[in-house]
Amino acid sequence: MLVTFKVYRYNPEVDDKPHYEKYELELKDDGVILDALNKIKWEIDGSLSYRRSCRHGICGSCAVKLNGKNVLACKTPIKEAVEMFGNELVIEPLSKNKNKVVKDLVVDKKDFWDKHDKVKPYLIAEIDEHPESENLIKPELVEILEEADYCIACGCCFYACGSISVNKDFLGPQALAKTYRFTSDVRDDAKKERLELVNELGSGIWDCVKCQACIEVCPKGVDPFIKITHLHNQAFEEGVAKRNVATKHAEGFVHSIKKHGILDEGMLVLYSESVKVVRHLPEAIAMFRKGKIKLPWQMPKSEKLGEIQKLIEISQTHELKD
Ligand code: FES
Repeated sequence: MLVTFKVYRYNPEVDDKPHYEKYELELKDDGVILDALNKIKWEIDGSLSYRRSCRHGICGSCAVKLNGKNVLACKTPIKEAVEMFGNELVIEPLSKNKNKVVKDLVVDKKDFWDKHDKVKPYLIAEIDEHPESENLIKPELVEILEEADYCIACGCCFYACGSISVNKDFLGPQALAKTYRFTSDVRDDAKKERLELVNELGSGIWDCVKCQACIEVCPKGVDPFIKITHLHNQAFEEGVAKRNVATKHAEGFVHSIKKHGILDEGMLVLYSESVKVVRHLPEAIAMFRKGKIKLPWQMPKSEKLGEIQKLIEISQTHELKD
């Protein structure tokens, strides 16, 4: 199979700015993107820099951007990539921020690791220093972790996250999924402390913008977005969630669905922001004129309202404040 690779090249020590180099490669049908990078380095240009180690989707070091999508180079078949993106494959580093690129496809992941460390990604428990047996838990208690413990810290989700791109304080999908991995482990003693850390406005769970990019790019099926949603519930259940615009938004959402079976966008903003809602008046008027929001007495109700209310009753994990 003949494939053209357009590879991002930048050596901050000698280059003024980044550029792309094209390499035309004859490759085996069953190869992966990492094979192509190895071929370039070993047979064409030894100066190309990229990270790799295990070649089996375990170490997380080979994450790159492939035609705009964050992937593990060692787990992405070239054939699939060509079917998806055509015969020219563009390989870039996870972040093209010039301060982060160390060289070519190698990025400095300090921002990622700092946040990873911040959530204390290890079990906190009083344990015997010299145990005579393993501290096993029942399979059903392991299932609660879902796939949170599959995370290999590759950074694919972190560098795809819509919230991090505009809010550098946001802990990000990886650190939050890692938090869930321990808040859901019955052997961990720091559940409340962990939830308090991720409950902070600006950096924690309430700042996820729900773009779900993390789900799309996670190579291990961790689904960080769902873990963040679980953390929302745990924060309410443990009485950690403070009354603020984000938690009121979450509650307002349920109130609206309970009342109408569909979302009342106008009342949701009023519920979340109370008197501060006046600052959104110009947008509200524009939305009202276009029929995007309705006055309370104009709100239609879903034909399946009864069914929806029952579903909320069954799934609700905490009492709402009126
Ligand atoms: Fe280890 Fe790809 S080389 S995950």
